[in-house]
Amino acid sequence: MYVCSCFAVTEQQVEQHAENGARTPRQIASVCKAGTDCGSCVRRIQALLGRGAAPHRETAGRGRPLPAGPAMAPAPRPDLGEAA
Ligand code: FES
Repeated sequence: MYVCSCFAVTEQQVEQHAENGARTPRQIASVCKAGTDCGSCVRRIQALLGRGAAPHRETAGRGRPLPAGPAMAPAPRPDLGEAA
């Protein structure tokens, strides 16, 4: 089954590249171009490379860390008062 239809790359080929040492979608792209055209296959390639694995370099560190628990509640705004 094709993973990347733009370059006719199959799941089997991605798995073979992973066995040969590719660990990220970028490394897969460097050996077979998969993911370098429309990009719609990148998530599927990531899934094939390792479900539940540590975040890849490309995605690690994006966004801010989520605040824990009560810190998510909106801060009181003294300028609004209690009037309705
Ligand atoms: S389907 Fe892989 S780059 Fe388009």
